[in-house]
Amino acid sequence: MKLGFNRKNKKTGGEDGDGNGEANGGNGGNNGKVDGGGNNGKAGNGGKNGKVDGGVSAKARVIAIANQKGGVGKTTTTVNLSACLTEAGKKVLTVDCDPQGNTTSGLGIDKNSLDKTIYNLLLGEYSLEEVMLETVVDGLRLLPSSINLAGAEIELIGYNEREYILKKLLDVYRYIYDFIIIDSNPFLGLLTINALTACNEVIIPVSPQFWSATGLTDLIDTINKIKRKLNPKIKIGGILLTICDERTTLYKNTRELVETNYSGTAKIFNTAIPSTTKVGEANYYSLSVMEHDPNGKASIAYMNIAKEVLGNVGNENNNKESKNATQTATA
Ligand SMILES: Nc1ncnc2c1ncn2[C@@H]1O[C@H](COP(=O)(O)OP(=O)(O)OP(=O)(O)O)[C@@H](O)[C@H]1O
Ligand SMILES: [Mg+2]
Repeated sequence: MKLGFNRKNKKTGGEDGDGNGEANGGNGGNNGKVDGGGNNGKAGNGGKNGKVDGGVSAKARVIAIANQKGGVGKTTTTVNLSACLTEAGKKVLTVDCDPQGNTTSGLGIDKNSLDKTIYNLLLGEYSLEEVMLETVVDGLRLLPSSINLAGAEIELIGYNEREYILKKLLDVYRYIYDFIIIDSNPFLGLLTINALTACNEVIIPVSPQFWSATGLTDLIDTINKIKRKLNPKIKIGGILLTICDERTTLYKNTRELVETNYSGTAKIFNTAIPSTTKVGEANYYSLSVMEHDPNGKASIAYMNIAKEVLGNVGNENNNKESKNATQTATA
């Protein structure tokens, strides 16, 4: 039996930038330039003069998994979507932006033994390479978190452009990764605002047990505010039904409500994530469900979500999807 918490945390070496030059810096500090590498060893995010200028022109899709509602499957989705995209041959960096550190432990890292986390990165104390770890999923890299990140909500208040700190740090890495997947916490505070400002897509997990129309509308309103003020490129990548029992009336009613009210605003994933004890077991063993139960229904569902994210869905049941896939949050 694999016991994740007994694993030694693995430190990564330097990134090789897909052969296009090394990413050397990446810290970027709190209000300044990002002077690390990326494509051709040059600085910046495709903006001018190496400065992060708010443009999103590099290759990585940066996806924030967000919902201020607790316990709806944000972390489970982050861990398993990251694992599935890695399995599909994509270069993925996962970012744990939640002081609970559940994505960190879910990827096989003992969050209590870390001496450097995303907290130190956000405060400008260490570079991204110094904080980044390898995970239990071969090839998947992580910016880990632990409880000290909770202090960042307060400590970052005095920083210049505090909403852009994560974006500036990650912009260098858009050249290196195909996907950057950010887990966020169940609170629309500064950390979540940083995640929403850094991303170009948001996936919103919604669970029938914790369904709240007001909650979802509030979140979409917040995304629209972020779009107007901080991140004009943000769009809703999709609403994902999680922890579902498709046989129940509760599930059917929730899907109908979501489709009726939100299909004009966002794509709704065809696949729903089934409720299964294998997810809890995987968490217990600090594994992705892909590793713990590779042929199980949750693994298959998350693989299908990865295919939907990659746009690899078949033609069946695809009309509404293609209609909605490109729609952005209504400003
Ligand atoms: N498909 C599933 N089947 C069964 N249980 C699940 C499933 N997905 C998530 N869970 C369980 O539901 C709980 C909440 O899941 P998760 O931690 O992913 O939610 P979250 O939105 O990240 O929570 P928080 O808001 O606290 O960060 C966990 O105990 C997890 O094991
Ligand atoms: Mg979580």
